[in-house]
Amino acid sequence: MISLPGAPHLAYTQNRLTLDGMDLQALGAQYGTPLYVYSAAAMRTAAQAYLQALQGRPHLLCYAMKANSNLAVLQLFARMGLGFDIVSGGELQRVLAAGGQAAKVVFSGVGKTRAEMVLALHSGVRCFNVESEAELRVLSEVASRENLPARVSLRVNPDVDARTHPYISTGLKGNKFGVAHDRALALYAQARTLPGLQVVGIDCHIGSQITETDPYLDALDRVLDLVEAVEAQGTSIHHLDLGGGLGITYTDEQPPSAQALVGAMLQRIDARGHGHREIFLEPGRSLVGNAGVLLTEALYLKPAQADELAQGGRHFCIVDAAMNDLMRPALYEAWMGIVECVRHPADTVASQTWDVVGPVCESGDWLGRERPLAVRAGDTLAVLSAGAYGMTMASNYNTRGRAAEVMIDAGSVHLVRERETPAQLFAGERLIR
Ligand code: LLP
Repeated sequence: MISLPGAPHLAYTQNRLTLDGMDLQALGAQYGTPLYVYSAAAMRTAAQAYLQALQGRPHLLCYAMKANSNLAVLQLFARMGLGFDIVSGGELQRVLAAGGQAAKVVFSGVGKTRAEMVLALHSGVRCFNVESEAELRVLSEVASRENLPARVSLRVNPDVDARTHPYISTGLKGNKFGVAHDRALALYAQARTLPGLQVVGIDCHIGSQITETDPYLDALDRVLDLVEAVEAQGTSIHHLDLGGGLGITYTDEQPPSAQALVGAMLQRIDARGHGHREIFLEPGRSLVGNAGVLLTEALYLKPAQADELAQGGRHFCIVDAAMNDLMRPALYEAWMGIVECVRHPADTVASQTWDVVGPVCESGDWLGRERPLAVRAGDTLAVLSAGAYGMTMASNYNTRGRAAEVMIDAGSVHLVRERETPAQLFAGERLIR
């Protein structure tokens, strides 16, 4: 058995790739491709690491469900007692449909609508993470009108560099997120006087796919400075929401473990005398990313001829998954591992460098470039670490139905989302006379 880096639940057994012991090529054949496959055990293990690190102190672990919002995934985490970090009314409805509790939900996002606020207030969410003065005023107005108090935290922007991709870095001054650190004190004072609001905490999230501990500690220090100043003003802060963002291993990244990161943060919190506060965390990717793969079939091989190669031609492996199924490579030039589900004996199929591309009509439609693969048409490939920001970012571009999703749990395979049919895609459209 050969294990793969960053994915302890994936292994080659006699040259066949398995996830929790299930043969992936066989799953692809049974359910069709493109197919997302998740390991429930891998998700539970990842959540357990956070829970262990938080043991013995008041906490709320809120899964940032934008990473993967399949109902079965939410159900799994809800059963472990997790709460959820949501960014829309739609996400709240998913939480409720999956059996999650609104009382364990924090509502983040820069653009909450009045209708979403009403829904969240009536559902009884734990806290609104407010991101601007304008939002604070609207929330006060809505909560007063509905006669339901809104518990609020201000999301502060600590102006630290998370040293990650600019599209997923959120804690710098130039980002649209949160309230500037030097404005936060005045805004807390204002929050205290506005009707309908109850200040309960402070919130901070500096970015995603963060692979170092230092940016977290820098942000934490800034947040604690602010907590001290806010409390000196007479407003008490019950909880510290320290966001999500812990990275995973796609290739050779070596992020701290959840235990190490949370341990370091708690140590700093205690050292500064804030150990009595409830700790909220909002991890997304690190709970689900390495628990999933995207299976795709190689449809056609389109190797470049020698003369074409000399002029910049490339070898293309055209697969049935595309940027609409998995957008990360096209959007962020993200590197995601791609491996064969069945390894051919070396003397039958030679390994060659392929650009793995989808059928969508865009040059940006690629899943991986210059990947060494021993592949034949009809083979199944697996894109690794696809459990986070894969399916949730999928679209219907080119009128492609979204992929099916299955979850492996305790030796059984569950179809947790059916493949979308073209008829479903245009069911809401109308012809005109
Ligand atoms: N909390 C807030 C307020 C967030 O905005 C996010 C992610 C999280 C928590 C969870 O962060 P995580 O633990 O997953 O890093 N689509 C991008 C990632 C966007 C992240 C957006 N916010 C990607 O595929 O890399």
